Amino acid sequence: MTVPLLDLKAQHAAIKDAVLPAVMSVIERQQFIMGPEVPALEAGVARASGVRHAIGCASGTDALLLPLLALDLQPGDEVICPAFTFFATAGTVHNAGGTPVFVDIEPGTFNLAPAAVEAAITPRTRAIIVVHLFGQLAKLESILEIAGARGLPVIEDAAQAIGARRRIGGQWRTAGELGWCGTLSFFPSKNLGGWGDGGMMLTQDDALAERLRRLRLHGGTKQYHHDEVGTNSRLDTLQAAVLLAKLPFLESWSRLRREKAHWYTEHFRGHPAVTAPEEDPANEHIFHQYTIRVPKRDGLLEHLKSHGIGCAVYYPLALHLQPCFAHLGYHPGSLPETERAMAEVVSLPVYPELTEAQQEAVVETVTMFYR
Ligand SMILES: Cc1ncc(COP(=O)(O)O)c(C=O)c1O
Repeated sequence: MTVPLLDLKAQHAAIKDAVLPAVMSVIERQQFIMGPEVPALEAGVARASGVRHAIGCASGTDALLLPLLALDLQPGDEVICPAFTFFATAGTVHNAGGTPVFVDIEPGTFNLAPAAVEAAITPRTRAIIVVHLFGQLAKLESILEIAGARGLPVIEDAAQAIGARRRIGGQWRTAGELGWCGTLSFFPSKNLGGWGDGGMMLTQDDALAERLRRLRLHGGTKQYHHDEVGTNSRLDTLQAAVLLAKLPFLESWSRLRREKAHWYTEHFRGHPAVTAPEEDPANEHIFHQYTIRVPKRDGLLEHLKSHGIGCAVYYPLALHLQPCFAHLGYHPGSLPETERAMAEVVSLPVYPELTEAQQEAVVETVTMFYR
């Protein structure tokens, strides 16, 4: 049996009757830039995320870049972030004129370790980016406390965690709700994916929202008048129409992802080689990825691929060791938990349409390798 890592064709087959008319309607109206689907999606995502403002933009990368630009970073200004994440988390810091300062993760959840964040703060620190990796929130309340004590803004990179929740102070809080700015990606493989690139910025801060709306439109609110230099980073109407049609399915998709993930964890219990991912008890993990740790990882990857089981390594080379950041002076050994994770992780297929027979094939094929 072959099991793809992700099966977007199966998703499309199930929902095309909802999505195709929405797309056709945009095509009939020919309003491809800032059509009514954009504010409608923004309102829907804002409601679902518990924020006052949701501002569409061209990608999850731009969703990070624009708030970083709003910080007006000066050369030498530092932004603390993890190295065990997708490149955009730190690439945008560089492109906004700052210096990424990489900190280590907690081994169980792969998320930023609050104590490491605190230890990395210097007089040049201007912000902290916390990534809610693989679909569960980091220890946000601890990081907000550390940041708040020093007046530092926190950006929540929630590209992989749309709608994920954490119990904080006795209340469920959604990814992107509590930070200065939360950022989403609608890359097609994300839990809510478009038919191309797209992103969104979330904030409770009216002044920041106004600034972000300006920055995505060449720095002006009035056409051909520019208060500052921004860029073109609008969310296409066509993408907004696709996403708006998919949004009502998101909650049930997240529930199904959780069910599939818990099934795996149940079936890997007591396994001699596999360490299942940890779900922080305060979290409602939405399993953008189901990522295990194993010995002989590269051998397992080859074995799974040769048996038709989709798998991938997120991420094989952590950001502090990337050639483009060599000038920052990190070296192997700088971030031990990050480096152990990059050598041990494998992500397995997890998506709403995955069948039990497929999951059995995945577990059986993993087990066969270690027998
Ligand atoms: C953690 C993280 N941050 C940022 C991004 C960037 O999003 P995009 O690919 O939409 O630019 C991604 C997605 O790929 C991501 O996984």
